[in-house]
Formats: sequence, structure tokens, C-alpha cells
Amino acid sequence: TEMKMHLLLCLLVSFCCSLSSAQDSDVSKPAASDKDSSSAGELESLKAKVEALENLMKKVSICMFFCNFLHKASTKVIFSVAVGEEGVIGPVDTNTTLIYERVLTNIGDAYNTSSGIFTAPVAGVYYFTFFYHAGGEYDSKLVLYKNHELVVLTQDHPSKSDTADNGGNAVFLQLQQGDQMFVKMEYDTHVYGSDYHTTFSGFLVTQM
Ligand SMILES: *[C@@H]1O[C@H](CO)[C@@H](O)[C@H](O)[C@H]1NC(C)=O
Ligand SMILES: *[C@@H]1O[C@H](CO)[C@@H](O)[C@H](O)[C@H]1NC(C)=O
Repeated sequence: TEMKMHLLLCLLVSFCCSLSSAQDSDVSKPAASDKDSSSAGELESLKAKVEALENLMKKVSICMFFCNFLHKASTKVIFSVAVGEEGVIGPVDTNTTLIYERVLTNIGDAYNTSSGIFTAPVAGVYYFTFFYHAGGEYDSKLVLYKNHELVVLTQDHPSKSDTADNGGNAVFLQLQQGDQMFVKMEYDTHVYGSDYHTTFSGFLVTQM
């Protein structure tokens, strides 16, 4: 809704721009009423009209450029979520999307708390980071996916002596509108879920 507001504002601004340029440039002036005017005169007035139209088009396109710029600069997508389920999650028997249920920040509503999936609302460069905590008795492996394509991961092998694991990873990614990002827990691995330990965050760095 915030984006729609910006777009509406932009349209209003360009409408006003084009109105004022229309007044400046006499596009709306009626053609000479003198039926006896020479064809040279008609040609002159036609030329003037074309020039005025060209000026108007230039002004409109400048307005549109600034609108677009303002709109892009004002689009904000920022999220941070935590697993929110207290205790050990896993080991799972298939690769499973980790659902982060506790929302810390979700500006732009691009992260879905039921599916665990972030969907890019606009094309651009995004930054993602994910951290986990786990006990050391099983493997831990979290994989960041972009539309089912592995991007980066974080992993720790089981160990009897090392009783607590912490890991994470981060990446800058260029996404198209609609691209989906999510974290999968690999089969036979586990993480420790809580309101604080295991998190997934991301934000739109710049639109492209
Ligand atoms: C599970 O994920 C791993 C990458 O973490 C991948 O190599 C493997 O093929 C996946 N297995 C299945 C059954 O999708
Ligand atoms: C969030 O994900 C759930 C489960 O996949 C789906 O039913 C729902 O429509 C999604 N919500 C939005 C706003 O896309």
C-alpha cells in the first residue's frame, strides 16, 4: 500500500507537470481562424504546434524520470526473523524449509511466516544473512536457496567434544521480481530453535 501511495503521488506530480507545460507551450491554442491565411502561414502554425508538442513530451519524460527515481528510492524491503520454536529441531528425514515464525522486522511484507519464503517484490540487489545455533551431537547444515538453486550454506560436523555449534553465512544477490529465497535444513541435520538463536535476515540494497 505504501508503494501504491508513492505511485499515485508520482502520477499526480507528472499530471501537474504536463498541465503546466501545456499552458506554457500553447499546445491548446486554437488554430488560426482566418480561412484566407496563406499556406505558408498554416505551415508556420503547424511547425509551432509540433515544436510545442515536442517540448511538452520532453517535460513529461523528465517528470517521469524523477518520479521513477523517487519511487525507486522510497521502496523499502527489510526483514529479520527468528525460528521462535524453543528446542531442538530435527533431525529431519528430508531437506526441509525452515520456517522462521518470530518476526522481528518485516517492512514490505516480503517474508511469509507460514511458508518461510521471502519473495522479492522488486528487481534489485539484496543482502541475505542467516545464523544458527545447535548442539554438537548431530550434523548441522542450513542451505540458502534461490528458487530451488543452492546459493550458500553453513555446516558443522557432529562431535562428542564440541557440544555447541554456531554458524552462518551471508550473500549479496541480484534478484528478479518474484524470485524466492528460503533456508532449507538438510536431511539428518538439526538446529536449535528459539526466539533468539537461529535467524534469517535480508534487505533490498538497491533496485536495478
Ligand atoms: C538435499 O540438499 C542437498 C544440498 O544441501 C542436495 O545435495 C541434495 O540433493 C538434496 N536432496 C534431495 C533429496 O533433494
Ligand atoms: C504464505 O504462504 C502460505 C503457505 O504457503 C500461503 O497459503 C499464503 O497464501 C502465503 N501468503 C501470501 C501473502 O503470499
